[in-house]
Amino acid sequence: MVNKMMFAVEIFILAVVCTVSQAGPTPVVLWHGMGDSCCNPLSMGSIKRLVEDKVGDGVYVKSLMIGSNIVEDTENGFLMNANDQVTNVCAQLKKDPKLQQGYNAMGFSQGGQFLRAVAQRCPSPPMLNLISFGGQHQGVYGFPHCPGANETLCDYVRKLLNLGAYISWIQDFLTQAEYWHDPLNEAEYRAKSVFLADINQEKQVNATYKTNLLKLKNMVLVKFAEDTMVDPKDSEWFGFYDEGQAKTTHNMTQSKLYQQDLLGLKELNESGRLFLLASPGDHLQFTDAWFEANILKFLK
Ligand SMILES: *[C@@H]1O[C@H](CO)[C@@H](O)[C@H](O)[C@H]1NC(C)=O
Ligand SMILES: *[C@@H]1O[C@H](CO)[C@@H](O)[C@H](O)[C@H]1NC(C)=O
Ligand SMILES: *[C@@H]1O[C@H](CO)[C@@H](O)[C@H](O)[C@H]1NC(C)=O
Ligand SMILES: *[C@@H]1O[C@H](CO)[C@@H](O)[C@H](O)[C@H]1NC(C)=O
Repeated sequence: MVNKMMFAVEIFILAVVCTVSQAGPTPVVLWHGMGDSCCNPLSMGSIKRLVEDKVGDGVYVKSLMIGSNIVEDTENGFLMNANDQVTNVCAQLKKDPKLQQGYNAMGFSQGGQFLRAVAQRCPSPPMLNLISFGGQHQGVYGFPHCPGANETLCDYVRKLLNLGAYISWIQDFLTQAEYWHDPLNEAEYRAKSVFLADINQEKQVNATYKTNLLKLKNMVLVKFAEDTMVDPKDSEWFGFYDEGQAKTTHNMTQSKLYQQDLLGLKELNESGRLFLLASPGDHLQFTDAWFEANILKFLK
């Protein structure tokens, strides 16, 4: 009798294990960049198809939309507080039944630092691999070119940034002001940046951010070798201008964030889970072959 019950329990466990392992490949979440939207067939649409094609097995790919349609989604990439965008995305991920076992995240441009904020703030459902394509992890000090088709919005952003990125009414709604990092005014940046200085532990050190980031399996940072959109492009690997000027730079290894391991970057590296990849070409430009050779292994 006892044996029969044990047998039934074993069958049951076996069935559960099989169901879970048959659930298919790990889902992938995409977060688009500034000037872009979830569903542009030429950008996120083609990335979605690339992932579906290369990962195969009917992988579930969710391209995040912030707002209720494509126009709103594009506008929110400029005009919605980054903290509110992250909260919005955390809620979307939490209620998507297909993501509850975990997901891999691919962030494009500002979507890279926004998804890092999701990893730091919202550990459930679990993000497994974080892949940042041209994300500005130490912010930007200039937008030399406007990505996307709509120059009107870019010009508006530049006007406001010139007026003063750290003026509170601008800081509160202008997405790009929230990761504007002025190396000539580091103290003001630390005091007034409502988003980047917070996720980079520069306002206060939030131990939860480090604990959560260390839950990642891997963190992959892609820098574009000939990037003309991000100033400085070193930011894509957590480098930035040295304080007080905008010519010389330091890299991640030389940063306080890394050396004091305030965020877990050093621990990720020392446990073999931090990957700094370089892709030839301009911002977000990579070939299918490069993707297959360098990125696919983190998604399979
Ligand atoms: C630290 O981050 C966690 C996760 O976002 C948040 O719940 C908590 O309120 C933060 N703590 C402080 C002191 O800001
Ligand atoms: C650019 O965006 C603005 C503000 O959302 C909009 O009014 C305008 O029609 C857009 N222009 C183009 C060419 O899409
Ligand atoms: C990560 O560790 C390797 C090996 O110790 C080292 O060569 C590399 O510079 C480290 N990465 C960073 C960002 O410091
Ligand atoms: C940062 O620069 C130092 C000094 O040039 C070098 O030793 C180190 O490997 C660099 N780290 C990275 C991640 O490139």
